[in-house]
Amino acid sequence: MSRLLVTGGAGFIGSNFVHHLVAHTDHHVTVLDKLTYAGNRASLADLPEDRVTFVHGDILDAGLVDELFADTDAVVHYAAESHNDNSLHDPRPFLDTNIAGTYTLLEAARRHGTRLHHISTDEVYGDLALDDPGRFTEHTPYNPSSPYSSTKAGSDLLVRAWVRSFGVQATISNCSNNYGPYQHVEKFIPRQITNVIRGIRPKLYGAGHNVRDWIHAEDHSSAVLTILERGRIGETYLIGADGEKDNKTVIELILTLMGEDAGAYDHVTDRAGHDLRYAIDSTKLRDELGWQPRYRDFEAGLADTIDWYRTHEDWWATAKDATEAFYASKGQ
Ligand code: NAD
Ligand code: DAU
Repeated sequence: MSRLLVTGGAGFIGSNFVHHLVAHTDHHVTVLDKLTYAGNRASLADLPEDRVTFVHGDILDAGLVDELFADTDAVVHYAAESHNDNSLHDPRPFLDTNIAGTYTLLEAARRHGTRLHHISTDEVYGDLALDDPGRFTEHTPYNPSSPYSSTKAGSDLLVRAWVRSFGVQATISNCSNNYGPYQHVEKFIPRQITNVIRGIRPKLYGAGHNVRDWIHAEDHSSAVLTILERGRIGETYLIGADGEKDNKTVIELILTLMGEDAGAYDHVTDRAGHDLRYAIDSTKLRDELGWQPRYRDFEAGLADTIDWYRTHEDWWATAKDATEAFYASKGQ
């Protein structure tokens, strides 16, 4: 493998992966990204031009996708509509990009015999009760709750069908909630950090008892590279770093780390159908492929992330006003 195509490489996790590839491999990377509201070329700005080529385009453009696959050894597919709240407001782009877009890539992989790794989410499994001692495994039945997670579940099932029916050389990973640099300010952690920087009170949905299993984006990247290099074709691997925290704890920690009163936030309208708890058992990935997370201290990772947003206001300032106007219209 020396030529990699990364779809959605100008988004949050995709751009972290491109940085990881440049730092840890010799691969040449081509990024295919539509630059929706969530994509940002500035996330790739400091990377060497001889290692990274940027192509502005849509994964639904079968002709363009075919051309790029002809010149690629392997594809890592991050491109998606990724935000649950947006999917409750307007599901259509989620159906187009997440389902039809994945179909377009699978057909190209089938024609060209290209190795494909599909990036997915733990949300395909639905949610767990707060007091459930269990965690998601590769055998947990699919039970998605939101328009977003149902389209991600649909895309996973397409990948499985194309492996079995057409012999496509694909793997899938389902990861928990990521945090780190380059995350859009619509998401929970960067929204609260940038609120504090702007002098706006952070916003907690409902009572904030919902639990998310946090992993640093850099650990997600190292896990994906491990699966790409050593994963067994047709297999699914769950990615997680034992980072369960409830939202109330996280918002209070952000305020404390930023030197504010831990209680200085507002409770706002809860998300419709809000999943209670996600939790990943990543034993298969760790035992079979020997992967381990490096960021085990959430508070230290969060402090680094706060520093990044403090020093990169030019990266997020434009998106902030539009994002807050959208939330205000929903009472959030
Ligand atoms: P993001 O919204 O930050 O980035 C998505 C990127 O895809 C953007 O750059 C956007 O421009 C691009 N894109 C959207 N539609 C496109 C299209 N039709 N053609 C080409 N490019 C298109 O998302 P993210 O948070 O980085 O998530 C990336 C992937 O990881 C998604 O597949 C998501 O489901 C998955 N995932 C995310 C998390 C998380 O915590 N954010 C956790 C597990 C899995
Ligand atoms: O679990 C993986 C998923 O994690 C990914 O598949 C998604 O792409 C990614 O967006 C993320 O989904 P969540 O819905 O869990 O993330 P979000 O950052 O939107 O919200 C995290 C939690 O914080 C959730 O319980 C809702 C809550 N929340 C969110 C926002 C934006 C708040 O309490 N206040 C907020 O302002």
